[in-house]
Amino acid sequence: MSVQREEACAALLRRARAIVDEQGTGDAALHQVKDLLVELANSGRTLFPEVDFAMPDAQGRNHILALEDGDGMGLYLTIGLPGKEAAPHDHGIWCVNAAISGREVHKFYRRTDDGSRDGFATVEEIDQVTVAPGQGMAMADHAIHATMVTGDEPAIGLALYGYALARFPSVVWFHPDLSSVRAGASRRAEAVQ
Ligand SMILES: [Fe+2]
Repeated sequence: MSVQREEACAALLRRARAIVDEQGTGDAALHQVKDLLVELANSGRTLFPEVDFAMPDAQGRNHILALEDGDGMGLYLTIGLPGKEAAPHDHGIWCVNAAISGREVHKFYRRTDDGSRDGFATVEEIDQVTVAPGQGMAMADHAIHATMVTGDEPAIGLALYGYALARFPSVVWFHPDLSSVRAGASRRAEAVQ
């Protein structure tokens, strides 16, 4: 990895950590972190040349850029091929995205049932953001989003998560048409104690 990229990614983690430690992970703080990530993504091809990051065989893939020590944040370069989509889901942990190139539409949802019936959930769409160069997105710990890469070029971007993907909480998937919900396995057991 280029020294400049390594330094820029480490600096991003330090600045994001300072914001989160001082202000928590509310909307205002995550908005600031998002702005930092958009700034880093704007370095685009100079810091993140395509030749350094293998494309996915299908759908998408993530490349680790920088990880905090211990049970900290993870910074990734993400690649989604045109047409890649993900159903509405809740990561359980906050996330901030910024685009280097391409476009990904994020639809945000609100759960509308009371969670009292196992496997049942209803959601309604409440917002939409297109992540494209200069335009990022931030989502809180239990926000629900669905994603789709639009246009005919891959969506290449940066993603910062409150935990590394290897130590992710259970991701909860919603199926609006079936009013169903299912939770994936948590990887928090692998978190550094
Ligand atoms: Fe997601």
